[in-house]
Amino acid sequence: MADKTITRRTSARTFTPRRRIGIILVVAALGSLCLAAAPKKKTSRDQWQQPARVVADLGLKDGSVIADVGCGSGYFTFRLGKAVGEKGKVFATEISAKSLKAVADKVKKQNLTNIETVISEPTDTKLAPASVDAALLCNVLHHVPKDKRAALTKNIVRAIRPGGFLFIVGWRSKAKIKHDINRRIPRQDLLKLAADAGLTLDGEFYYLEHQVFLRFRKPTKAAAAG
Ligand SMILES: C[S@@+](CC[C@H](N)C(=O)[O-])C[C@H]1O[C@@H](n2cnc3c(N)ncnc32)[C@H](O)[C@@H]1O
Repeated sequence: MADKTITRRTSARTFTPRRRIGIILVVAALGSLCLAAAPKKKTSRDQWQQPARVVADLGLKDGSVIADVGCGSGYFTFRLGKAVGEKGKVFATEISAKSLKAVADKVKKQNLTNIETVISEPTDTKLAPASVDAALLCNVLHHVPKDKRAALTKNIVRAIRPGGFLFIVGWRSKAKIKHDINRRIPRQDLLKLAADAGLTLDGEFYYLEHQVFLRFRKPTKAAAAG
């Protein structure tokens, strides 16, 4: 009997409220330490977008002119600016004035002379005919209403010089990423959009985990003349 009393007293003292809180805090701290030490999931866009490799595969040279159609916040714009050099040019086009202003502000802040922002309409990039060597459409077409995609693609092709290129990067239909699940465009539809605009599939890159990456070519004047 006496033994039991002693035991109860000891355990009651061991688990005083203060001690309980202390134990909880230690366990929580250990838990967060374990989480921090665990290998991080690849969540940053750079990991799956591989922008340096994508830009390299656009085949740009010093002095090239490229349109970043639907540039958004300029994820590719500034990388393209570096790739084409000071003698080159990037036309960053957008229908969103807000996004374009953010790009323009950054251009100004960095004193960049080779990036020009262009506010555009849903089916009109406002680019002059045959004014660019290439155009990049990255993750844009699925944001364009279906009935406007053909007109926008044709308008972009008009702005590409004969023999120039259109690159389309867009979600794979079954990409295991949360974005735009209900509005992804099947690869076949992208091929049709480009073919209907007079382009030929010229190359395809398969290394992007979540996106198709297609290179189309506009016929040269001679090829167009037959
Ligand atoms: C998901 S963001 C992609 C931005 C950028 N290309 C990138 O890869 O980070 C799609 C962008 O396309 C723009 N957009 C949608 N329809 C467009 C159109 N018809 N012409 C130009 N831009 C368009 C949107 O305003 C938006 O900024």
